[in-house]
Amino acid sequence: MTEIRRVLSGMRPTGRLHLGNYHGALANWVDLQDRYECFFFVADWHALTSDYENPKSIPEFIREMLIDWLSVGLSPERSTLFVQSLVKEHAELFLLLSMITPVPWLERNPTYKDQIVQLENKDLSTFGFLGYPVLQAADIIIYKADAVPVGIDQVPHIEITREIARRFNFLYGNVFPEPQAILTPSSKILGLDRRKMSKSYNNAIFLADSPEEIAAKVSTMVTDPNRARRKDPGNPDICNVFEFHRLYSPAAVVAEIDPACRKAEIGCVECKKRMAEYLISALEPIREKRRALEADPNVVSDIIVEGSRKARIVAASTMEEVRSALGLKRSNA
Ligand code: TRP
Ligand code: SF4
Repeated sequence: MTEIRRVLSGMRPTGRLHLGNYHGALANWVDLQDRYECFFFVADWHALTSDYENPKSIPEFIREMLIDWLSVGLSPERSTLFVQSLVKEHAELFLLLSMITPVPWLERNPTYKDQIVQLENKDLSTFGFLGYPVLQAADIIIYKADAVPVGIDQVPHIEITREIARRFNFLYGNVFPEPQAILTPSSKILGLDRRKMSKSYNNAIFLADSPEEIAAKVSTMVTDPNRARRKDPGNPDICNVFEFHRLYSPAAVVAEIDPACRKAEIGCVECKKRMAEYLISALEPIREKRRALEADPNVVSDIIVEGSRKARIVAASTMEEVRSALGLKRSNA
């Protein structure tokens, strides 16, 4: 296994991020910044592969997501933060890679097959949706990334990326390293209703939620489903509220609640109230950072423009190598 030097990852612009996104991805990105050279980008073209009918909301989603990234500690001094559509070289590499990618590799991609079944109300019968992993491969190898932090659902895409890189190198000479996935363990915290936390399930706590919103949401959380009455003993091991305590409350509080719940000495209403207080104060610095970023209308767009300029230097230099490997005329730009 080669040494990891450069790390890259991307997110589709979905607007405001929630605690599931934070614990399942962002927190890890923030850590990686101190250890590697990092590139993080907003995959706005990818959003169009399944939502081509609603492009209008994308700019606002990009901005909201960037504010969350910055609020939790991604920093333009330590990472290159950029937007995919501002680096057109991704599109050129996507085109060239599409020439050498066998269609069956895409058709047997498990994510492709799952999504067609799950998102039956969307039109996914497009060329762009089938070719999604080729665009993702271009995103990654254009920076010669060594590693890509992703959740388990994205692992097949990294595998296709490796296959495409290998095929390119075999056909035209060694240009691309084969990136490896850094698997981010999926977040243990669930949504308010105990399903996976997701914007579309309406069960999410957002990083930007106000203290009042957080308190109201926490009060509706589903607890140990077997604990029907206050006098019934509970089981914290299967309670999502307790999972939140573990993440946000001081160790002493966690140690106190565990036996109290099992002996029915504490009720869920009180238990949730205590958790909500710690959660609200843990998220306060993030909200404060957001307020500062929102106060200055230019700061986010300046960061995007500057990050994309830096990304483009790397991408353009790779494209020079790619064109010359294929014997295409060098650009005169
Ligand atoms: N497909 C990823 C997702 O849906 C987003 C993405 C696009 C990505 N290009 C990428 C992730 C490159 C990692 C590397 O979450
Ligand atoms: Fe969950 Fe707390 Fe209720 Fe126990 S007391 S079931 S940990 S909410």
